[in-house]
Parts: sequence; structure tokens; C-alpha cells
Amino acid sequence: MKHLSFYYNLYYIGYQNLDNYIMCCITHTSLRNGRPSARMVLLKAYGREGFTIFTNYESRKGQEMIENPKASLLFYWDVFNRQVRIEGRVEKVSEAESVEYFGCRPRGSQLSARISQQSRPVESRDTLVERYKQEERTFPKDVPKPHFWGGFRIIPDVFEFWCGQTDRLHDRIRFFRPESSDRVDGKVSKMGEEGWAYERLQP
Ligand SMILES: Cc1cc2nc3c(=O)[nH]c(=O)nc-3n(C[C@H](O)[C@H](O)[C@H](O)COP(=O)(O)O)c2cc1C
Repeated sequence: MKHLSFYYNLYYIGYQNLDNYIMCCITHTSLRNGRPSARMVLLKAYGREGFTIFTNYESRKGQEMIENPKASLLFYWDVFNRQVRIEGRVEKVSEAESVEYFGCRPRGSQLSARISQQSRPVESRDTLVERYKQEERTFPKDVPKPHFWGGFRIIPDVFEFWCGQTDRLHDRIRFFRPESSDRVDGKVSKMGEEGWAYERLQP
């Protein structure tokens, strides 16, 4: 079994013609106290370096990723009967990368990102609309990226590829970066490429 040459994802994530569909995932984060939270995000990029999302650093997820830089991503494609689970550590992307991506976003998205104190309460929608209009007047041309907005990269150390089967004996293949305490016995768990080990999980 040859795998993980490129995160196995050309098979699982790289389906063509479904870009919008497949680029959304659920992101789980938590505080150090362990209380979990989840929400949908757009996956803006993925590759050997990890999985990149963009958000407000002061939002709930942003604060959680900063306080406890671990996250999981969850993809599910009903049409393929497939699920991919990813876990890993979180890093902020470079300011230059965030500026570059912010610059490509539609003007409305840029203005909304600037005026939204994401995850915090507001007295009414009117307040947001008023702030938006004010920001439009302040920045009639280019809209600069606010300091509190940018990207996070999840650098995976665990993948689980789940493929549903009609007999319900679903396939679950887990790839992981073995720590010294992990047992990779060569029978149930095997070493793969580039420092990844893999094993089949019971459904
Ligand atoms: C399909 C979909 C895609 C979304 N993409 C993003 C995104 O890329 N970045 C983001 O900050 N919020 C995105 N959201 C909104 C989040 O789900 C969430 O409401 C928001 O980020 C606040 O989450 P938080 O309070 O847990 O930080 C998306 C929502 C949906 C339904």
C-alpha cells in the first residue's frame, strides 16, 4: 500500500468539479480547560505544509487556537460516503500571506471582516449595517486588512480516512506520526512513508 506521498488527499480531497462543496469543513477547537467548540469554515488551501483557514483572531475559535494551539478538521462528503478526520497543531500563517489573501477577497468581505467583532454580541443588525456604511466611506478604494484578521494553519499529525460500505463494515484507515510511546508492531500498525505510520481501525 503506497500512500501519503501527498497526504493521501489527491484521492480523498482532490475530487474535481466539487471545489466549493469540498472546501468547507468543521473545525474543532477547545480551551485548555477542555471545553470543545465547532463551526464550519472554508478551507482556503491545503498541501504538504498543512491546511489553511482564515478568520478573526479575536473570535472564539481564534482565541481558542491561540490559547490551545491544537485543532481538528472534519470533512464529510455524502455523495462519496466518505469522511476525513484530521488532527494537528495550529500555527498562525505569516502576516504577508494573510495580507495577500485578504487583498483577493471581494470588497464586501473585506469590509465585513473589518467591522465585525466576530463572536461578540451586538445590540442590533442596524449597528452592524451602520458600521459597514461608515467603513465604506472611510475606505472608498482599497480596504486594508485589519490587524485582528488572518490565517491559521493546521499541521496534521493524525488523519483518519473513513469509507462507508453497504454491508456496514466500513473502512477506517488511520495515519499518524508515531510518538516514542506508540507501538508500531509491523503487523497491526505499520510504518509508511515519510515518518507516517498507519493502521486499520474497526468500524
Ligand atoms: C459554509 C460556511 C463557511 C464558513 N467559513 C468561514 C470562514 O472561512 N472563516 C470564518 O471565520 N467563519 C466562517 N464561517 C462562519 C463560522 O461558522 C462561524 O460562525 C464564525 O467563524 C464564528 O465562529 P466562532 O464564534 O466559533 O469563532 C463559515 C460558515 C459556514 C456555514
